[in-house]
Amino acid sequence: MSADPKETGEANGAEGAFGAGVAVNGKDEAQLKLTSKDYYFDSYSHHGIHEEMLKDEVRTLSYMRSILQNKHLFEGKTVLDVGCGTGILSMFAAKAGAKKVYAVDFSGIAEQAKKIVKANGLDDVVQVIRGKIEEVELDCGEGGVDIIISEWMGYFLLYESMLDSVLVARDKWLNKETGIMMPDKAKMYIAGIEDAQYKEEKVHYWDNVYGFDMSTIKEMALTEPLVETVDNQTVMTTPCLLAEFDVGTMKQSEVDFSAHFNIEGIRDDYCHALIVYFDIEFSRCHKPVHFSTGPHAKYTHWKQTIFYLRDDLTVQRGENISGTISTKQNKGNKRDLDIELEYTFAGEHQKASRKDIYRLR
Ligand SMILES: C[S@@+](CC[C@H](N)C(=O)[O-])C[C@H]1O[C@@H](n2cnc3c(N)ncnc32)[C@H](O)[C@@H]1O
Repeated sequence: MSADPKETGEANGAEGAFGAGVAVNGKDEAQLKLTSKDYYFDSYSHHGIHEEMLKDEVRTLSYMRSILQNKHLFEGKTVLDVGCGTGILSMFAAKAGAKKVYAVDFSGIAEQAKKIVKANGLDDVVQVIRGKIEEVELDCGEGGVDIIISEWMGYFLLYESMLDSVLVARDKWLNKETGIMMPDKAKMYIAGIEDAQYKEEKVHYWDNVYGFDMSTIKEMALTEPLVETVDNQTVMTTPCLLAEFDVGTMKQSEVDFSAHFNIEGIRDDYCHALIVYFDIEFSRCHKPVHFSTGPHAKYTHWKQTIFYLRDDLTVQRGENISGTISTKQNKGNKRDLDIELEYTFAGEHQKASRKDIYRLR
């Protein structure tokens, strides 16, 4: 899930949202010195965001299936749930026969998770710990835990950088020989879409707003990828696999990546934007469980991430758009993503080559 930073103030990278010496609701200045990290976790303390995640059935049922239909993996095992939220995955693990589940979350939702676990009579198995996964201590002994479960995926897979925390947890707490990550595989894809109408509404709109030129905002709109649902009919190129992550073995340094792509027109059409989406797999299940967030698949709250191009490319069937996409956590706010998109198109009707920086925030 991705907390919407627009609602939390995180986009501003706000360091201390209130002025010095201000007391609000009886809290002193120190308590009110909120950092962008606090805003991030704060956004997860509201039940609304958890409601959206739980109601995303593609997401939640995939976790449920991969846990409950694989009792042979869980029976008598020790499990760590990184970012437990309401405790849903921890409770699945307990139902699947886990001996002990550590459910860790730094956000205020952990207080609800404690009550939920108790209300469901699972508090003898599930221990909810409120704290940052990077800082908590678990009494699981030298061998560590047998399984780490986590729903860490953000928009564009990597937005919010929670994968970093999952890798920290893996290296610190997962049994080095036999430990299992669930899920353990993620793949990112890119494709081109025809999207004249939406580009008109979201980008060109700023050229003339009730007779005024607001095209300065158009520039901002163009540099911010849009998270939206794309109709599969608009996809006018082949998809291309961009990146593949093995969460069980990847290094922290591989979270930022650079990948080449080559996509081919599947019909004569215009390409207004490139979209990126991801697939998730629980490959250690008896029968691997997977789901896709692509436009061809059932709706998920991750939707697709759209990068509008400055050019409208006139693409003929069989012509190629190639390029490179590189991502980096933003230096000022590591939960923001800077994404560099470089592409070249040499079609019969048009030639174009550009490099642009987008920021997902
Ligand atoms: C996408 S939600 C998933 C919640 C729940 N597991 C579910 O599937 O419904 C991620 C949760 O991870 C928590 N989280 C993110 N980074 C964390 C960290 N470093 N330490 C502890 N909790 C973290 C957030 O507060 C949030 O509640």
